[in-house]
Amino acid sequence: MTKCLQKILVRSFGCLLAAAFAMTGMSLAPSAVSAQEVQSKLVFGGQLYDKWYKITSGKLPKGTHKSYGKKGKKSGKATWRCKECHGWDYKGKDGAYGKGSHFSGIKGIRGAVGMDPAKVVSILKDETHAFSEKYFSPDEFDALALFVSKGQVDMDKYIYLATKKVKGDSSRGMAFYNTVCANCHGKDGKKIDDMPALGKIAQGNPWETLHKTLNGQPDEKMPALRAFPIDVSVDILAYAMTLPR
Ligand code: HEC
Ligand code: HEC
Repeated sequence: MTKCLQKILVRSFGCLLAAAFAMTGMSLAPSAVSAQEVQSKLVFGGQLYDKWYKITSGKLPKGTHKSYGKKGKKSGKATWRCKECHGWDYKGKDGAYGKGSHFSGIKGIRGAVGMDPAKVVSILKDETHAFSEKYFSPDEFDALALFVSKGQVDMDKYIYLATKKVKGDSSRGMAFYNTVCANCHGKDGKKIDDMPALGKIAQGNPWETLHKTLNGQPDEKMPALRAFPIDVSVDILAYAMTLPR
């Protein structure tokens, strides 16, 4: 393309943009934009749903949570993680944690999709949960509540509960994985040596892998892909499941 043509294109595109903003009365003021940006709050909420005490500055959990099921096999601070009682698929005893070493016996949070976030906060502060302001700041409560109300993904749409098969395109996922994840995890998923091979994690727990792909890993520089179309994360998951164990 000639320089001249480029200039014309850039100019007319700039014109169109200005016209569009003029028409809608929109401005590019940062405050107007950031008020609408909920993805990063949902991601923060999703990380709090995971290992919240790695990224909060309040009180740390002590002992086993009083509402942890009597039949559960875990103990100690792990039982204070939302995911330990409600599952990575948010379905508690009706999902993947219905059996096995993480059996919770507790219902999921799918019923709270769309719930008024203020109501979710009051649930978190209730007798059952007893998460007071000693544990979470108001912003952290808000992010958790927003995640519960608006951030849950219906994982049954992408992962078959019985077979763990994923409805994704692994060849598309390979390109996403090699360009976004492999830098840290290696093309074989084994580069980070203080965690099991990514292939093993993805095959064993596709729900956890999808949750972490969408929301990132608490207290690590790992990106969160939530703001991209969900197919990207599902395709990456399908590919990660083909990596060596
Ligand atoms: C130790 C186990 C345990 C942990 C940890 C836990 N919950 Fe719960 N949660 C429960 C139980 C039990 C119920 C059901 C209470 C009832 O039905 O009376 C519940 C119910 C809920 C509900 C209501 C679901 C509905 O359908 O009405 C929401 C929302 C919720 N929990 C969110 C969370 C979040 C967010 C976290 C993490 C900050 C969390 N929970 C951590 C045990 C737990
Ligand atoms: C900037 C580096 C970085 C990038 C990029 C990155 N990760 Fe991670 N990831 C990490 C680190 C660090 C951990 C934590 C390892 C540990 O727990 O020891 C982690 C943990 C994980 C875990 C959880 C492992 C566990 O045992 O809890 C999954 C799943 C995961 N990453 C998937 C991905 C996927 C999929 C991508 C690409 C979309 C990705 N990561 C991109 C650094 C990265």
